[in-house]
Amino acid sequence: MLLVSLWRWAIQELKQTSPSAYLDSELLFAHGLGLTRAQLHSQDPDRLLTTSQQKNIQRLINRRQLGEPIAYLLGRQEFWSLSFVVTPEVLIPRPETELLVQQVLDNFCNQQRNIADLGTGSAAISVALALSRPAWQFVATDCSPGALRVAEHNIHHYHLQTIELRQGDWCGALSVREKFDIILSNPPYLAIDDSHWQTERALAYEPKNALISGKKGLNDLEIIIRQAREYLRDEGVLFLEHGYQQADYVKEFFLKYGYREIKNHKDLAGHRRVSSGKWN
Ligand SMILES: C[S@@+](CC[C@H](N)C(=O)[O-])C[C@H]1O[C@@H](n2cnc3c(N)ncnc32)[C@H](O)[C@@H]1O
Repeated sequence: MLLVSLWRWAIQELKQTSPSAYLDSELLFAHGLGLTRAQLHSQDPDRLLTTSQQKNIQRLINRRQLGEPIAYLLGRQEFWSLSFVVTPEVLIPRPETELLVQQVLDNFCNQQRNIADLGTGSAAISVALALSRPAWQFVATDCSPGALRVAEHNIHHYHLQTIELRQGDWCGALSVREKFDIILSNPPYLAIDDSHWQTERALAYEPKNALISGKKGLNDLEIIIRQAREYLRDEGVLFLEHGYQQADYVKEFFLKYGYREIKNHKDLAGHRRVSSGKWN
């Protein structure tokens, strides 16, 4: 089949379900043919594709049409202008989470610090911070062995020696008497019956334990706020990402467990998506 014919078919198919049919096709064709997007554009439209190239691209287009996120099809996602390997065992890092990275960087300079990143997933947050703050030492944890394998790959890719990975249930992965200057987390915070399940088909492809946290989406946020007190140094700070309607609940948890200097941080849309509290 000619490249141009398969391209026309792909656009028609994707237009039915994706608002970004052209960009999706471009990314999937480049990926399927092992080319960059620039190289794809310099191809002869009348190039004859092999049967295996054609089948490979058709499979990718069909999977996209069913709603599979482009990041899983490409096996990559950009975060903080860095490229991360992603598989269905990790949450696809979101632009919203860059606010958490930005807040931590804005508040702490490159002095020696100990950081715990709870629920690290692809390790996107730790890697972004570690590249900007080479003097910091990280413990990045997750309960999912599959996620930790992906995290290891990404940490290795960026040649980072300052991030230690551990498996465990939230602060259960940290050692008794271990103390941190900063604990941060982007935990699961969707409610079981959140309307996003109906509207965002792509969520069905991501790991449930990276997304859902009880009836109101608040279970893990409260657990982390309660547990982190044992592992924060005096003046240590806990940073949490949460849903845009959860800031008041998170503030209540911070107050309930004795934190002070509780702050909200707003994203560009004005939503309070990150909160922090100081211990002691
Ligand atoms: C919302 S994802 C965040 C992933 C990554 N930090 C990011 O921002 O892209 C939440 C992560 O927490 C992990 N997780 C869920 N429950 C956990 C628990 N009880 N203990 C440790 N990690 C947990 C999930 O496996 C998932 O990787």
